[in-house]
Amino acid sequence: MQKISIVGAGRVGETTAQILAEEQLCREIALYDVREDVPEGVALDIFQTAPFFEFDCRLSGSNDPAIMAGSDLVIITAGFPRKPGMSRSDVLAANVKIIDEVTDHLMAHAPDTTVLVVSNPVDTLTYRVAQRTGWPRSRVFGQAGVLDASRMAAFIAEETGFSALDITTIVLGGHGDTMVPMPRYCTINGVPVSNFIPPERLDAIIERTRKGGAEILALRKNSSAYDAPAAAVAAMVDAMAHNRRRLMPCVALLEGEYGEHGIAMGVPCVLDESGIAQVVELDLNERERADFASSVAAVRADIGRLAELALDAG
Ligand code: 2OP
Repeated sequence: MQKISIVGAGRVGETTAQILAEEQLCREIALYDVREDVPEGVALDIFQTAPFFEFDCRLSGSNDPAIMAGSDLVIITAGFPRKPGMSRSDVLAANVKIIDEVTDHLMAHAPDTTVLVVSNPVDTLTYRVAQRTGWPRSRVFGQAGVLDASRMAAFIAEETGFSALDITTIVLGGHGDTMVPMPRYCTINGVPVSNFIPPERLDAIIERTRKGGAEILALRKNSSAYDAPAAAVAAMVDAMAHNRRRLMPCVALLEGEYGEHGIAMGVPCVLDESGIAQVVELDLNERERADFASSVAAVRADIGRLAELALDAG
C-alpha cells in the first residue's frame, strides 16, 4: 500500500500508526484529527522513532481532512470512548455524528479508498458508513473479531500454559456482550481445546472474552484498551498489504449470508488486497445459531436507534 490515513489521533489511532510504521505496511501515514495541533504532534513524535525501528515511511498530521486525499485505506478510530459502566451502545448517539462527518470527508477527498472502522459501536457504525457511501462491502468493513479472538487466545494460553502462538480461536457476532466465541473451532495447534479445558472452565473463558473490553476499561479506569485493538487492526492491514488471503473475523455487511441482510456484524472473511474478498459461512450448531441470533437482535436494536435518533439509517 502507498498511503494509509488514520482518523483520530487518540490512543488507538496513535498506537496503530506506530505499528504500521514499524512494520512498514505502507509508504505514507496521514493522521487526521479535529483537535488543534494534536495530529501534527503525534505524527512527528512517531516519525522520530524511525531510526530506532528502522522504517522510512513518512508520517504527517493535520486538522484538514484533505490530508486523506489519495488514501488506499482509511482507518476510523475517532469517537468518544465509553466510561466504566457504559456499554459500547451508550456512545452511539455521540459517535454516529462523528462518523457521518468523517464519511462525508472521505466521499469528498478519498472516494476510492477502502475503509476500516474501529470506532464503537463498530457493527452499527460500519453499517452506517456502508449505507452513507453506498460503496461495496469489500471496501467498507470493521475490526472487532480479530481483537476478541486474540483475547480468547490469551485466556486459553493462561489457562492451559500452552504457547499463545499455537492457539487458534474465532469469535463471531456483534462486538458486545452478545458476541459469539466459537470454542468448537478453537484449537491448540489443531487439537480441540476441549481436550485440555473442562466445560465449566471453557464457559468461564467464553464469558470473560465477551466482557474483555470492559475488563480492561475497569482496570485502566481512564482509558479503554488500545494496545491489543491497534495490534488487531495492524494484523488486518498486514493481510491486505501483503495480499495474504487470511481468514479473519471481520465486521462485514451481510448480503444473505447466515440468513441476514441489512446488518453488519462479525463473520469469518477472506482478507486480501481488495479488502473483504469473501464472507465464509460456517455450519452453526443449535446453540451457536441461538447465540448468533441474539447477537443479530442486539445489533439490529442499535441500527434501529439510528432512525430514532432522527438520522437516516439508509
Ligand atoms: C474493546 O473491546 C474498545 O471495543 C474496544 O476494548
